[in-house]
Amino acid sequence: MPHVQVRVREISFEEDYERVLNLWQGIEKGMNVGRSDSPEEVRKKLQRDPDLFLVAETKNEIVGTVIGGFDGRRGMIYHLAVQKNFRGRGIGAMLLQEVEKRLQAKGCLKCLLLVLEDNGEAIQFYKNQGWRHASEDVVFMKEFFS
Ligand SMILES: CC(C)(COP(=O)(O)OP(=O)(O)OC[C@H]1O[C@@H](n2cnc3c(N)ncnc32)[C@H](O)[C@@H]1OP(=O)(O)O)[C@@H](O)C(=O)NCCC(=O)NCCS
Repeated sequence: MPHVQVRVREISFEEDYERVLNLWQGIEKGMNVGRSDSPEEVRKKLQRDPDLFLVAETKNEIVGTVIGGFDGRRGMIYHLAVQKNFRGRGIGAMLLQEVEKRLQAKGCLKCLLLVLEDNGEAIQFYKNQGWRHASEDVVFMKEFFS
């Protein structure tokens, strides 16, 4: 594939939501599109920290995303994904580094993310980006339904 220029920018809900959802739905593994990805939930997220929801775009299309979160103590990273035929060109690294920079600028000291155990490609990618497996931690979760 010829060299393409990619820029990372903040999402614009009105212009980008459908395209972002399409991208996520086309990711073959490592992405769980769920309740938090509905239009209402994405709008809710964007009211809180719109500057941490980033997309990578070429001239014509959105080819990557990352979502950051900061609660005043810890950072979280969600939905780092790059369209398959644009991988291996540094776009994932560009997205991750930009959201890390923004989290740090907000005062974030430590950041967490979840990777499925069988997602070897992503695990290697994060290790190469300076992340480590926090093997001492066990992840607990609770979902809320109204
Ligand atoms: C994990 C993921 C986001 C990485 O995205 P990516 O754009 O391929 O990542 P990068 O191109 O930045 O890095 C991938 C590799 O390509 C290499 N690379 C970067 N630029 C390159 C270039 N111009 N030419 C060739 N290789 C290059 C990098 O060195 C990197 O290798 P490394 O991981 O051994 O360091 C992508 O594989 C993906 O979307 N996976 C599916 C969704 C997923 O699992 N997300 C993680 C959820 S936790």
